[in-house]
Amino acid sequence: MNYGAPHPVLKDAKALVVGVANEHSIAYGCASAFHELGADLALTYLNEKAKGYVEPLARQLDASLLMPLDVSEPGQLEAVFSQVERTWGKLDILVHSIAWAPKDDLQGGLLSCSAEGFAKAMDVSCHSFIRMARLAAPLMRDGGTMIAMSYYGANRVVPNYNVMGPVKAALEASCRYLAYELGGKGIRVHAMSPGPLKTRAASGLKDFDLLLTEAAQKAPIGELVDIMDVGFACAYLATPYARRISGETVYVDGGVHIMA
Ligand SMILES: NC(=O)c1ccc[n+]([C@@H]2O[C@H](COP(=O)([O-])OP(=O)(O)OC[C@H]3O[C@@H](n4cnc5c(N)ncnc54)[C@H](O)[C@@H]3O)[C@@H](O)[C@H]2O)c1
Repeated sequence: MNYGAPHPVLKDAKALVVGVANEHSIAYGCASAFHELGADLALTYLNEKAKGYVEPLARQLDASLLMPLDVSEPGQLEAVFSQVERTWGKLDILVHSIAWAPKDDLQGGLLSCSAEGFAKAMDVSCHSFIRMARLAAPLMRDGGTMIAMSYYGANRVVPNYNVMGPVKAALEASCRYLAYELGGKGIRVHAMSPGPLKTRAASGLKDFDLLLTEAAQKAPIGELVDIMDVGFACAYLATPYARRISGETVYVDGGVHIMA
């Protein structure tokens, strides 16, 4: 289907997108979709090594801000939001598209996951969204939209997803509780649940290629999703057209999750 040139429905919206590592990142799909629909962007990069990959993408998307952010480093998250406030004085859209777990804890089964590994995975992949929401909410003066990336393994057992299953379950529940607590300020909070995508984070999961093959076979639409599918779904949720929708887990998986 071709609907012609997109209407700049996010014109003047200010969007902070966290999680671009490279051009395969889901966060890059989100940033590209927001840009195409007229939003101003703030992007982050994990560290100096990652900066080399993210900087050209930020330039290509005319991002107003590019800042370092490792959510495990004290003070960095606060610095990002201070810079957003100094530059824009407000924020309309926040996307949290990051996840991490120590390799041994991720690749062993849940039974063998260490307390430390569990806590680290939970901190980077879930609690950091709560911290972001706390800092973003006062900047969402005209209301806003917060989105965190989840996965089907939050609700059903996906072999090899291991510790990330319980972590994503906590993330989806956090979205619902934040949607409740922030709804009165006109802020809507969603979890997005994309189908499997070949990204750097996904390469840390054992037998990920099997997940891709299975998803393509199971999907009623008969094909895998791409990062722009996820990006435009996030963009829709951030528009006024979705102003009465909050607290959802939205699947962008070609319908895989409805199948037995
Ligand atoms: N790829 C998939 O199949 C898939 C499916 C559903 C959900 N997701 C989720 O989408 C999100 C994005 O992952 P992706 O697949 O685009 O992979 P990706 O590797 O492109 O992105 C992961 C991002 O997490 C960031 N990150 C890791 N630790 C961090 C920290 N301490 N501080 C700040 N950033 C940190 C990395 O820098 C990277 O930008 C994740 O939450 C992932 O669980 C991925």
